[in-house]
Amino acid sequence: MMTLFFITGNKGKILEAKTKFSDLNIDIIQKDLGYPEIQTDSLENVALFGAEYVQKKLDQPFILEDAGLFIDALDGFPGVYSAYVFYKIGCSGILTLLDGLNDNKRKATFKSVYVYGESGKKPMFFIGECSGIISKKTLGEHGFGYDPIFIPDGEIRTFAQMETEEKNLFSHRGKSLEKLKDFIKNI
Ligand code: IMP
Repeated sequence: MMTLFFITGNKGKILEAKTKFSDLNIDIIQKDLGYPEIQTDSLENVALFGAEYVQKKLDQPFILEDAGLFIDALDGFPGVYSAYVFYKIGCSGILTLLDGLNDNKRKATFKSVYVYGESGKKPMFFIGECSGIISKKTLGEHGFGYDPIFIPDGEIRTFAQMETEEKNLFSHRGKSLEKLKDFIKNI
């Protein structure tokens, strides 16, 4: 069985990855190593810097992921600052920023960038996106982060109203994980 370390403090991400990889002979182990998140305008740069940092500390295969919510009406905000903004103003703060806007002005995209790293090798990227709208109120109990206010295209429920398997079918991280899975199957 292959052991793969997932460098994250986020148990929701671990659950999603374990669910996705449940049919593979792979043991995903959470390692909350912590890595600096640089200020930059792209998730790829944040993830790459993090991966190069981890490569120096860990001599085994690992993955890490950086994600963000890009809201059209706010010119892509909070984007790479999604974690900080969530911590500061949460879902309710985002709803306030969009107050009074109709559904056609509430478009947003989640983006997920996974990186696979191994010491001495160039990190590999796996990217997924999911478009949708920001709901007008928080709905649902599942998931984490902005899940209670994000409705993916083609749905009327928020991510927080779906079970993990169902969210994985739509989500940015479901798509990037699928690409990562294809890669890992062939290692
Ligand atoms: P990070 O990738 O851990 O830096 O996440 C960025 C921010 O986006 C965090 O505040 C997360 O809660 C939020 N976020 C990332 N992915 C998701 C998701 O699938 N659903 C809801 N919020 C998310």
